[in-house]
Amino acid sequence: MRPLLVTGSRGQLGRALLAVAGRRGIPTVGHDVDTLDITDRSAVGALVASVKPGVIVNCAAFTAVDACEEREAEALRINGEAVGHLADAAGTTGALLVQVSTDYVFSGEGSRPWREDDPPAPLGAYGRTKLEGERQAARAPEHLVVRTAWLFGQGGSNFVEAILRQVEAGRPRLEVVADQTGCPTLADDLAEAILDLVERGARGIVHAVNAGHTTWHGLASEIVRLAGTPVEVVPITTAEAGRPAPRPAWAVLDTTRLGKLLGRRLPPWTDALARYMEARCAS
Ligand SMILES: NC(=O)c1ccc[n+]([C@@H]2O[C@H](COP(=O)([O-])OP(=O)(O)OC[C@H]3O[C@@H](n4cnc5c(N)ncnc54)[C@H](OP(=O)(O)O)[C@@H]3O)[C@@H](O)[C@H]2O)c1
Repeated sequence: MRPLLVTGSRGQLGRALLAVAGRRGIPTVGHDVDTLDITDRSAVGALVASVKPGVIVNCAAFTAVDACEEREAEALRINGEAVGHLADAAGTTGALLVQVSTDYVFSGEGSRPWREDDPPAPLGAYGRTKLEGERQAARAPEHLVVRTAWLFGQGGSNFVEAILRQVEAGRPRLEVVADQTGCPTLADDLAEAILDLVERGARGIVHAVNAGHTTWHGLASEIVRLAGTPVEVVPITTAEAGRPAPRPAWAVLDTTRLGKLLGRRLPPWTDALARYMEARCAS
């Protein structure tokens, strides 16, 4: 069996993929930027030629949404051009390239969940560079783009951890944005879905997020409730939060295609969050 190659393997999704693939007995090779910088075209070609993976899942990305606004050229090299290096290497060795993308490719207008064939119109640099990554991935003869959203996973720096840090520091009151709606998604559940999609031969674009949707305020309130601490969670607007990068107001992804391909959708985000917090307490 040709191995699975995971790039960005120390990130939230990379770690989850290594763990899930390990449990499934899939031979897996993981590399992060210190051993494979995906912007280095010749290093990518050499590594893929030596590992000869059957599947490459690219989890490497410049994910700091606000920093992308200031450093768009750097973000484009990592989130866009480097995906082309992986696609070309995958093409040369006959591997499937799985590129992980984002709800931020959409404008956030409207109130119907975004389908895979809806026209992307990113608002900011992160979304623009990730959309370029989707285009670059399509250079690989065999490719799958999995769009996900609001990811949280063990060992990651994510929204859930940011809220818990403030709760644990004894902050009595948190102000959280209540006018952006999306789909919180557990990295472990996404990793399972990605490997299932690969197993079933999925190609093209697939949306994969935990079921249900909420606002950042709704997510923070549920975190606080599960933590069992008396913290007041106050709703604020995006404008009041004053973050540098624009963000889609309505980023809910339609998972009908995922459901058809897998015969199941991912569990509700509330269930995923409860499992994440239990695992965090146990570790
Ligand atoms: N996080 C979210 O909410 C979210 C939402 C939608 C989609 N996604 C997408 O899901 C995927 C996984 O996200 P994640 O949250 O797991 O990301 P993450 O935790 O930020 O991990 C990304 C990893 O890629 C590494 N990396 C950065 N530049 C690299 C390079 N040039 N070569 C190789 N590795 C490099 C990072 O290393 P350093 O930490 O040292 O930079 C990090 O270990 C990404 O494609 C992301 O765009 C994420």
